[in-house]
Amino acid sequence: MIAKTESDIKNLRLAGKYLAEALAATARAVKAGVTTAELDMVAEREIRARGGVPAFLNYKPRGAAYAYPAALCISVNDEVVHGIPSEEHTLEDGDIVSLDLGLSYNGLFSDSAITVIVGGECDDAAKNLLEGTREALRQAIKVIKAGAHVGDVGAAVELVAKKYKLGIVEELGGHALGKTVHEKPFIPNMGHKGNGEKLVAGLVLAIEPIMTEGSPDVGVADDEWTYLTLDHSRAAHFEQSLLVTEDGCEILTPFL
Ligand code: MF3
Ligand code: CO
Repeated sequence: MIAKTESDIKNLRLAGKYLAEALAATARAVKAGVTTAELDMVAEREIRARGGVPAFLNYKPRGAAYAYPAALCISVNDEVVHGIPSEEHTLEDGDIVSLDLGLSYNGLFSDSAITVIVGGECDDAAKNLLEGTREALRQAIKVIKAGAHVGDVGAAVELVAKKYKLGIVEELGGHALGKTVHEKPFIPNMGHKGNGEKLVAGLVLAIEPIMTEGSPDVGVADDEWTYLTLDHSRAAHFEQSLLVTEDGCEILTPFL
């Protein structure tokens, strides 16, 4: 959406703030021995405690086999995105866990993700994966302003991925949002400067680099939601929602 009214902007800011808080609380609850279903309960409770509504729960995009059954998308190790919380899945030290959460507040949406390591200790490849994916988000945000092209964002992400030798999952990327969780345009995590649609002030975007430590080829699991890397290499995902302005952007979900 293009936010024009003061009231929409106010609600977008609140949606972003509450989402960042709920996501941080969920991240704090990540530890060995916790199930992914328990983390979903934390996420949903934290969203509702702030007057928000979980945006992913019961969300059924066009083409989906069935509606998403949880508040939280939780994707562990070779799971890339849209992992479904489960009572059977217990986290272990060293797991790479992407937490992706969406919230609506007074009908305005926010979408954000972070990747954390269970117990905080990990190998160098995992450190490189997380640092590269986070840095790609930072660099993408730097090029966003009214008049910049969608391709400028993709080019910024791609450059960082190359530097860190990470795979970019081509079929996944960012999007506009606002009155719904997914709106056009799609924002690829690769591209060429000057290509694609021009951004305008007031446009609300979710920017989300999604990277792998190995091949970027992915498939969808039997649950019809979870994306997995085909080579079982691990993946990371960082995402923020932001508002495009004349000379830059305003981050709506501050967590970095
Ligand atoms: N942040 C996720 C994305 O942009 C939102 C997934 S919603 C779900 O793809 F319901 F599909 F999980
Ligand atoms: Co998103």
